Amino acid sequence: MGMDSSGARTAPAASAPAGVPLLDVARHHGPILPDLEAALIRVLRSGRYVFGPECEELERRLAEYCGAPHAVACASGSDALLLALMALDVGPGDEVIVPSYTFFATASAVWRLGAKPVFVDIEPEHYTLDPVKTLALVGPKTKAVIPVHLYGQCADMQALAPLAARGVTVIEDAAQSIGAEFQGRRCGALGPMGCFSFYPTKNLGGLGDGGLLTAATSELAERLRLLRGHGMHPRYYHREVGINSRLDTLQAAALCVKLDHLEHWTAQRAQNAQHYTELFTEFGLDRVLGLPRQAAGRRHVWNQYIVRVPEGKRDTLRQYLADAKIGTEIYYPVPLHRQDCFRSLGYKTGDLPESERAAAETLALPIFPGLTQAEQHAVVTRIADFYGLAQRFGSSVPRPKFLDRTTSPAAHGKLA
Ligand SMILES: Cc1ncc(COP(=O)(O)O)c(C=O)c1O
Repeated sequence: MGMDSSGARTAPAASAPAGVPLLDVARHHGPILPDLEAALIRVLRSGRYVFGPECEELERRLAEYCGAPHAVACASGSDALLLALMALDVGPGDEVIVPSYTFFATASAVWRLGAKPVFVDIEPEHYTLDPVKTLALVGPKTKAVIPVHLYGQCADMQALAPLAARGVTVIEDAAQSIGAEFQGRRCGALGPMGCFSFYPTKNLGGLGDGGLLTAATSELAERLRLLRGHGMHPRYYHREVGINSRLDTLQAAALCVKLDHLEHWTAQRAQNAQHYTELFTEFGLDRVLGLPRQAAGRRHVWNQYIVRVPEGKRDTLRQYLADAKIGTEIYYPVPLHRQDCFRSLGYKTGDLPESERAAAETLALPIFPGLTQAEQHAVVTRIADFYGLAQRFGSSVPRPKFLDRTTSPAAHGKLA
């Protein structure tokens, strides 16, 4: 963005886009489509549709990428969490501490094994579990803690280090954070097991479902392999009851192609995040919204760019953006301790205030690699317009006529 002679900010030269999608996978895949097609046709012709050689290649390369000794592919990130807990023999009578503000799968894996999820609040600035509150919740039944590296940034793993001495295993939920680092080490290698998802919205997204676990020891890796394949070894001899959680070869082949580009895409996400932050600051929106931050000593991989919209305006702003065909999402509108299915655990509104506040205030904006600067400008100027700040800077976004009549959304609340 430049400045005109009056000092007002001007739009980038590119014309304003008609709308901005939250995620455009087709655009993202465009340049690598020939490689993806070739890989898929190769698998189609090979006839090896489940656990073909591409699955082993993916496991080997991702173990290396994460800096973990082993990797075990499976059918989804949800299964990865379930398998990790099964490998620890978590079951009835056990407790597992999980953040309340996360995707459902983090807690449902615990519940499905008959164990009790114990919900912990988050740190408001980074949305990851609060380590001090986590340590305070540890009791004789606590078998594991699952820190979620939410939105692309690692939880404070150093502060969780005392758990090991108390016999509590830390399982990383790294579904949203492949490539994220904590003090120079990649997630998935920060504890005994890490769980990853290849759901298409993830930074390394497949063409459907897929997942993977990293493991620190060969014993754990072997147990995970056994459990993902019905506990069967050798064929039709079942040592224990596992699950069916296979990764199909087509997914692995596509993921191997995409893995070559992951670092480049992560760098694009980081650039987009930085550009948003600059734009928000130039418009004075950093005084109105809570902007995401990378914590010291961490590498954020920006699976999501989350802003906090205070004073009860989040849903109105979201609608205002939707009216301009700007895609957003709310991750997550109801914290897990307030979900109907966990009612029997007895949590009440107010029990985990930071999770509840985040659920009411956060909004995800488009950040995918391939998002243009003109699109980012359109997103920010529309938000500035909502707050009555765009006109001050010569916004390129035409002001909708209805706003001139009475009800600019800015009129609903105070400006900074
Ligand atoms: C934090 C977190 N954990 C677990 C999962 C589950 O992954 P999947 O959708 O591959 O089952 C997801 C995916 O959305 C997630 O975001």
